[in-house]
Amino acid sequence: MATPLRSRLLPLPVLLLVLAGAAAIVGEQDEQQPITHPGCPDKCGNMSIPFPFGLMPGCFREGFQVTCDHSFDPPRAFLAGSSITLNEADSWAAALLGASYLEYSYPKTSWWLVEVMDLSVDRSEARAHGPITSRCSTNVTHFKLKEKTMTLEGPLAVSEALNAVVGVGWSVSVMDSSRSTYPSTFACRSELAAGHLEHARNGSCAGQGCCEAALSSKTVYSTVNGAAPEVNAENNTLWRTSPCSYAMVVEKSRYSFSTADLYGYEVLLGRFPRGVPVVLDFAIVGDAACPGKDQRPPPDYACVSNNSYCANATVGQSSYAPRLSYVCKCSEHYKGNPYIADGCRDIDECQFPDLYNCSSKGICINRLNGYDCPCKPGMKGDGKLGHCAEKFPLVAKAIVGTIGCVFVIVVMSFLLLLRKEKNKTKEFYKKNGGPTLEKAKNIKVFKEDELKPYLKDSNFIGKGGFGAVYKGNLGNEPVAIKKTISGSLLENEQFANEVIIQSQVIHKNIVRLIGCCLEVDTPLLVYEFLSKGSLHDILHGNDKKPLSLDTRLSIAAESADGLAYMHSKANTKILHGDVKPANILLDDRFVAKIADFGISRLIVRDKQHTGKVIGDMSYMDPVYLQSGLLTEKSDVYSFRVVLLELISRKKATHCDNNSLVSSFLEADKREKVSDFFDNEIAIGEDLEILQSLPGMAIECLSLDVDKRPDMTDIAHHLLLLNKSRKL
Ligand SMILES: *[C@@H]1O[C@H](CO)[C@@H](O)[C@H](O)[C@H]1NC(C)=O
Ligand SMILES: *[C@@H]1O[C@H](CO)[C@@H](O)[C@H](O)[C@H]1NC(C)=O
Ligand SMILES: *[C@@H]1O[C@H](CO)[C@@H](O)[C@H](O)[C@H]1NC(C)=O
Ligand SMILES: *[C@@H]1O[C@H](CO)[C@@H](O)[C@H](O)[C@H]1NC(C)=O
Ligand SMILES: *[C@@H]1O[C@H](CO)[C@@H](O)[C@H](O)[C@H]1NC(C)=O
Ligand SMILES: *[C@@H]1O[C@H](CO)[C@@H](O)[C@H](O)[C@H]1NC(C)=O
Ligand SMILES: *[C@@H]1O[C@H](CO)[C@@H](O)[C@H](O)[C@H]1NC(C)=O
Repeated sequence: MATPLRSRLLPLPVLLLVLAGAAAIVGEQDEQQPITHPGCPDKCGNMSIPFPFGLMPGCFREGFQVTCDHSFDPPRAFLAGSSITLNEADSWAAALLGASYLEYSYPKTSWWLVEVMDLSVDRSEARAHGPITSRCSTNVTHFKLKEKTMTLEGPLAVSEALNAVVGVGWSVSVMDSSRSTYPSTFACRSELAAGHLEHARNGSCAGQGCCEAALSSKTVYSTVNGAAPEVNAENNTLWRTSPCSYAMVVEKSRYSFSTADLYGYEVLLGRFPRGVPVVLDFAIVGDAACPGKDQRPPPDYACVSNNSYCANATVGQSSYAPRLSYVCKCSEHYKGNPYIADGCRDIDECQFPDLYNCSSKGICINRLNGYDCPCKPGMKGDGKLGHCAEKFPLVAKAIVGTIGCVFVIVVMSFLLLLRKEKNKTKEFYKKNGGPTLEKAKNIKVFKEDELKPYLKDSNFIGKGGFGAVYKGNLGNEPVAIKKTISGSLLENEQFANEVIIQSQVIHKNIVRLIGCCLEVDTPLLVYEFLSKGSLHDILHGNDKKPLSLDTRLSIAAESADGLAYMHSKANTKILHGDVKPANILLDDRFVAKIADFGISRLIVRDKQHTGKVIGDMSYMDPVYLQSGLLTEKSDVYSFRVVLLELISRKKATHCDNNSLVSSFLEADKREKVSDFFDNEIAIGEDLEILQSLPGMAIECLSLDVDKRPDMTDIAHHLLLLNKSRKL
């Protein structure tokens, strides 16, 4: 029972001590901050004397004078207007008519000033050494009574809230003297049955050796009559071992009962030679309360500091003489003395982390009217509430980290892939003869990226003998991009050489090779773009257009000229091998250009064999077909078939052993060739020209290739004819 009460009461004084300690530290740290008026002593010994208290005239407010007694070392401070009165009496218990009563003799009176323990304007409190009243027996009937009464001056009063009344003794009743009507009432009572002193417990004031009670709310203004220990009119049978009983008003829990106090003579007085701590409230009294908002403060208004405020107080109010009082306080976040000018100063809250919350994860920043405690960078929350948390909790960090890792891995893989791709590109470049090509002057080597955008279905313009053709646009010049069929037709190691040779073939009637791209597995070739398409399309396309004899002659002559140029190249004679209308292209002015010879064989003098017969069977020289040996005379044969097609507008076909050639020969035999010609041109004198058309000679088809004329001859005659027509 006893221990819980004690532990419940303990925290308050501990807290007060902490606060007092903090205030003391501040006072020492900030010596600049005055606590009283300039020129006034602010200390008695080591005790601070803040205004309105003061030592010298002019240094204190009325009722707040303090006397400093320098005869002590260290000097002691006393409240000048307050006193403690001692009435000493030798008394005895007497029995009269069966009732007991007390007899007093020779009362002696003395008095002294109330000694101050400390003064605090923060809390409007003074702590003083309070008196202890005692009654000690000298024998079973006689005892000495020392009754002490504290008398306080106007502005000071015993704090009802912070003090308690306590009685100590094996049989004691503390009387409430404020209710002094007879019979007296008890404030508290201690009674150890049959003198069983061993039942008393240290720290317990629950009525067994020690009792405790709250102060009466009706305490008479400015005085506390020391509650007298009243003998219960019985003889003190334990007077030898336990002669004394005590009564006192003491700061709550500052008196801790010890069983030792029950024994011996005036032992308790010896423990507190100057008295027990008692808390006194003080206030500014004098028929003035705090001024209202629009009220003017009274002339001697005490709350003079800025950042201070006034609070109505209850000190000095009693049912008998109600008086108004107030206290001054520093505003929140300020501390100091509100009773002097500029006495309240801003608190540097950051210096007192115990009192002002700021999480260890926050940054304390002092400011006027408070402080801030933002969370450290990377954290969110309220540092004052201790709620700083990582912006990204661990889980989020882990997730972000994982995503980051995955991202890095993806990027790395991508880079590796890119590198591999680049290596592959380089490999292709090398494999396709890039280094060799770099030496060629007329040829442009394109990057894959430059051409790739055009290799899509919307740009597809046809399928050549060796692959798909796409229309492109490089530097505003339309081009045809040929995507060769993978490797099969080309020996890759020869490719570069072939490209170089092609690039050297520069003739107005040969489609020009502009460049190539080697960075892909199937090389891309870039040619000049011819808007009218192939002769095949012109002759047999969906929208057949009339084609004049002159145009046909000029196409024939130009094609022949192109072929002748190829055959006549000095070092590297080039054989077309696949001469046919589809391989004769026309530009916007119907100028004919030979195309698609690149992948046909090119013959370096000593390498005439190709081993493989390729080309369109409808135009193929039967001799080449048999022998597999390609010569320029094979091109002559094919060109003859093309001429036939050009003037007849009839498709050469392969079936029936070249029906176009045989049907022409048939018609020739029957002298009915005019029927064979295209109706559009087989008119009048033109018939004559057609019949004697150079290149139409029967020798061209001779199986004895040596009898066939050269391409150069044919071209020569065709050009002459063409020229003569234009005159
Ligand atoms: C004042 O001095 C006394 C005795 O030296 C000491 O016990 C007490 O703690 C001091 N008080 C302060 C507030 O320094
Ligand atoms: C107690 O002491 C007083 C004097 O101090 C004396 O007169 C009285 O007789 C004593 N009483 C007893 C019972 O001894
Ligand atoms: C107190 O003691 C005295 C003397 O011993 C005796 O005469 C008196 O009756 C006692 N009083 C009571 C109330 O017991
Ligand atoms: C109470 O405390 C005092 C000293 O502090 C000690 O002498 C005494 O024996 C204690 N009493 C009990 C009942 O423990
Ligand atoms: C103090 O009391 C007076 C009079 O009772 C009143 O006018 C005033 O508003 C009170 N001030 C405060 C701060 O309570
Ligand atoms: C505080 O009061 C003093 C004098 O009363 C004055 O000089 C000072 O400017 C005031 N400070 C503020 C912040 O108002
Ligand atoms: C101080 O911080 C604690 C948690 O650390 C919190 O419970 C308390 O409410 C805070 N006090 C104030 C005044 O913010």
